[in-house]
Order: sequence, then C-alpha cells, then structure tokens
Amino acid sequence: MTSSPDTQPLPVQRITGKARLAGVLGWPVGHSRSPLLHNYWLRRYGVDGAYVPLPARPEAFEVAVRGLQAAGFRGANVTVPHKEAAFRLADVLDESARATGSVNTLIFQDDGMIRGLSTDGDGFVASLRAAGVDLPAVSHASTGRRVLLLGAGGAARSVAVSLAAAGMEVCITNRTRARADELAASLPGLSVCPWEEWEDRLGDYALLVNTTSLGMEGGPEPGFCPALERASAGLVVADIVYVPRVTPLMAEAQRRGLRTVGGLGMLLHQARLGFHAWFGVEPQVDAQTEAYVLASFSS
Ligand code: ATR
Repeated sequence: MTSSPDTQPLPVQRITGKARLAGVLGWPVGHSRSPLLHNYWLRRYGVDGAYVPLPARPEAFEVAVRGLQAAGFRGANVTVPHKEAAFRLADVLDESARATGSVNTLIFQDDGMIRGLSTDGDGFVASLRAAGVDLPAVSHASTGRRVLLLGAGGAARSVAVSLAAAGMEVCITNRTRARADELAASLPGLSVCPWEEWEDRLGDYALLVNTTSLGMEGGPEPGFCPALERASAGLVVADIVYVPRVTPLMAEAQRRGLRTVGGLGMLLHQARLGFHAWFGVEPQVDAQTEAYVLASFSS
C-alpha cells in the first residue's frame, strides 16, 4: 500500500547560503518537468539545495554553462536543443555519452573538469525493469531477444544503445529509411525493417518501443494507433511518450491483453543519476514520486 502525496506532506524546502545548486538548460525550457521532480526529491530528502529552469539560447549555451560553473553550481541537465553542444563541451565523457553522441547530464567536478553523461537510454531500461519487464528474459521462443524500435532520432539512439547493452537484438524502423540506415550503420548489431512492413512483422519481436512523438498530445499525429493483430502473444509494448499517460498505441495493446509500459518512468529514472551526483542522495522512483509528477499534468 502506498500513500498519496496528500497523506504525507512534504517538508518545507531548505535553501541556506550553502545550498547545492543545479538546473536544466534548454530553449525553450518552460515545458520541462525536471524542476518539479528534483525539487520534490530535495524536499522529500531534506536536502539543502535548489534546482531551477535555465532558459539558454543556442548561441549562449557555452557562456551559460561556464557561468553556472563559475557561480558554484554542481551541474545541470541539458535538454533540446543543447544535447549535442553539451557533448562537444564536456571534458570527460562517460561511455553512455560516447555511444550516443549526446549529453543530458553535466557534472561539474571539484577539479574543474566537466563530466558528461547520457542517462536517457539507461533510464528507459530502468523503467522497464521497475515495471517488471526483465531484460533479456522478456524474450520467448518465437521471438528470441528481438526488439523493434519505431523512430531513428536522438531518443531512438539512446534507447537502442541501452537495450543492446541489456542483451537485446535491436531492429529499427523509421518513416525516413535513410535515417534508420544511418543509425543502424553507426552502432554494432542493429538491423532495419521497412516502415511499410513493421506491422506485418510484429510477430518476430518480444518488445516494441515507440521512440517517436507519434501519439503525443499536441504532436504530429496524436491519434497514432498502428495495427497490432500480428503481435506475438507475449509482446511488451513500451512508449516513451508520457502525455497522455496511456497513448492510443498503449490502449490498443492493452485491449489485446498485451503488457504496456508508459514513458513517465523513463522521465523519472533518467533523473536519478544527476540528482545523486549533485545532491548526494540516491532518490527513489516510487508511486509517490509518480503521483506527484502526474498531478502537475492536470494543473
Ligand atoms: P528525437 O531526437 O527527440 O528522437 P527527432 O530527431 O526529431 O527527435 O526524431 C523524431 C522521430 O519521430 C523520427 O524518427 C521521425 O521520423 P523521420 O526521421 O521520418 O522524420 C519520427 N516522426 C515524427 N513525425 C512522424 C510522423 N508523422 N510519422 C512517422 N514518423 C514520424
């Protein structure tokens, strides 16, 4: 039994002269849920700290990062459109960043170096595991470890890298074939399925992941609902879209009795590493955290 945020009031946020500081750099950044999430954890764990939105134009990105470092920040998250610029700017890159060519988490080290990480893909895999989807054990006889990714953008790359590291065989399908080919060529072991054929070939896969904005409220095709009649019996359907919480793709999968995992878990899990590095506490992603962030979607 989990208690709702209403039954367990959060302590007041403590910000003294010694507060640890971090934030999220983006342009625009107003839509980001990261300030809400990190400040929730700061209050919950009684950390003397603050996490703020940092709107930085692309041309001012590097100045902004150096300024934050000079002002004593411990680091920052980086969102659209700065992830590649952050990759170029970091002095030390983790394997996750090197594999994806992008950085979503900057850590300002005590020695003055800037460390860059990409936590999106591992956040996605962690969210699957938290939802009870064990990798690569999700595989079954008719599908092996095959996973089909819809999309070939930055999100697809991060998810592909982490799924491959978790022992899955990744296949990419994308409306623009050349982008799928390019992504597959840049990472070992990836294959490509034609966009026109993926619905027919769904029986070959243990896991289907939508990494595009299809199905997102306000996105290019909010009603996106592909045919799932060829799905393998044990297919798990994951969507990185989290508004709405249950996308049309997930609703269709649920109607067919398939397991689904929504995108909110990825959003929450990708934040854990940065929070730990900046604020010194390992935060939990649990029902209370989810409920708190979800409440912000209706307000
Ligand atoms: P991100 O870095 O967030 O993944 P992106 O690079 O813009 O964003 O990639 C968006 C993905 O959604 C792409 O795979 C894109 O397909 P194309 O490469 O063909 O553009 C996909 N996408 C966006 N709108 C789409 C639509 N209406 N139909 C099919 N795919 C779409």
